[in-house]
Amino acid sequence: MVTDTPLLSVRDLVVHFPTQDGIVKATEGLTYDLDRGKTLGIVGESGSGKSVSSSAIMGLHRGSNAQVSGEILLDGVDLLTLSDEGMRKRRGRDVAMIFQDPLSAMHPYYTVGNQIAEAYRVHHDVSKKVAKKRAIEMLDRVGIPQPDVRVNDYPHQFSGGMRQRAMIAMGLINDPALIIADEPTTALDVTVQAQILDLLQDLQREFNSAIIIITHDLGVVAEMADDVLVMYAGRAVEYGPTKEILTDPEMPYTWGLLSSVPDVSAPVDAKLIPIRGNPPSLLNPPPGCPFNPRCDHVDKVVDDLCRTLLPELTPARSGGNHVKRCHLANPARVYEQEILPEIAPDLVEED
Ligand SMILES: Nc1ncnc2c1ncn2[C@@H]1O[C@H](COP(=O)(O)OP(=O)(O)OP(=O)(O)O)[C@@H](O)[C@H]1O
Ligand code: SF4
Ligand SMILES: [Mg+2]
Repeated sequence: MVTDTPLLSVRDLVVHFPTQDGIVKATEGLTYDLDRGKTLGIVGESGSGKSVSSSAIMGLHRGSNAQVSGEILLDGVDLLTLSDEGMRKRRGRDVAMIFQDPLSAMHPYYTVGNQIAEAYRVHHDVSKKVAKKRAIEMLDRVGIPQPDVRVNDYPHQFSGGMRQRAMIAMGLINDPALIIADEPTTALDVTVQAQILDLLQDLQREFNSAIIIITHDLGVVAEMADDVLVMYAGRAVEYGPTKEILTDPEMPYTWGLLSSVPDVSAPVDAKLIPIRGNPPSLLNPPPGCPFNPRCDHVDKVVDDLCRTLLPELTPARSGGNHVKRCHLANPARVYEQEILPEIAPDLVEED
C-alpha cells in the first residue's frame, strides 16, 4: 500500500525524570518523522538524550517514574496511548531495539539460539523446534558461520562482532517495521563495525524497514543516514537531510561536532578541534540557548539573546525540512568564513 503518512511521527516528545535533586529534562519537545526504508541518524554528546528519547518509542520508560508526553505515532497509532499489554505486543514485532552491548542485553545462562527463538515465539504461536529452525535461518542470514552448531552456544562463546550479529538476528526475526540501533558498533573494531553497518543496510533493503541509528560517529551518519537529528541538552538543535547537515550546517554545535571529526568533510590535513567545555546539566540547563557557555559566536548575536532566549527551531537557508535552533543572523557566512577554513582548508581553496 502506498501512503504519504510517515511510518514514525514523533511529536513534541518530552521525557522528564523527577529525582531528589529536581527534574532531569532528558528530552524536551522532540519532533521528527521517519519513512519506511529510510534511516535517521541521531547524534549528540553523551547525556544529550539520544537513548532516553529512543527508548520512549519502545515504551521502556513504562513502569518507571518517568514523565512522558507528546505523541509517538507508529503507522498512525500513538504508542503512548497504548495499554502496557498493547505495547508489549508491538515491542519486538513492530519496533525492535539493538543495543550497544549485546553481552548485557543477552542473558548469560541461555544459549544464543534459545534467546532468538524465544523472541520469535513471543509473537508467533509455533513450537520450540520451529522457532529454533527460524533462529538458525536468521543466524545464517546475519553471517554467523555454522549456524546450526553455533545456535547452541552461550553469549560469552561468541566474539563481540558475532554477538552484535546475533542481536541483529534477534531484533529482525519478527521483521519489525522500525529498528532502533543504539550505538550498535561502538564497542567493535573498525573492520567489524563496517561489516555490521553493511549488514544492517542489506537487511534494511530486504525488509524495507526504517532505522534510527544513534551514534557519536558522524562517519556512520554520513554513510547510513538519510536524515540527521542533532541533539543537545535534550533538544533538537539541527535536523534535516544528511547531505545538507554535513555540507551546510547552520548551528555552532553541529559545527563543533564536524570539527571534532574532520574526516567527514575534509580530505587529509584538517585539524581536529574538540568542543570546549562540558555538556550542561539537564537538571538546570543554562538559560537562553543551552549551548551558550561553550559557543564562540555569542557576541555576534544582538541583545545578549543567546544567554536569555531559547532559540526556536527555524528553517535553514537550504530550505526543505532543514531546521536549526540558533539566533545567528547569517550562519552560512560565519561557517564559510570562520569554520570551514579551519576544518577543511582544502575545500575552501578549491572554491
Ligand atoms: N532513569 C533515569 N533517571 C534520571 N535520569 C536519567 C534516567 N535515565 C537517563 N537519565 C538522564 O537523562 C539524560 C539523557 O540520557 P541518555 O541516556 O539519553 O543520553 P545519551 O545521549 O544516550 O548519552 P550516551 O551517548 O552516553 O549514551 C542523562 O543526563 C541521564 O543521566
Ligand atoms: S544561539 Fe547563540 S549560543 Fe546558541 S548556538 Fe547560536 S550563537 Fe551559539
Ligand atoms: Mg545512549
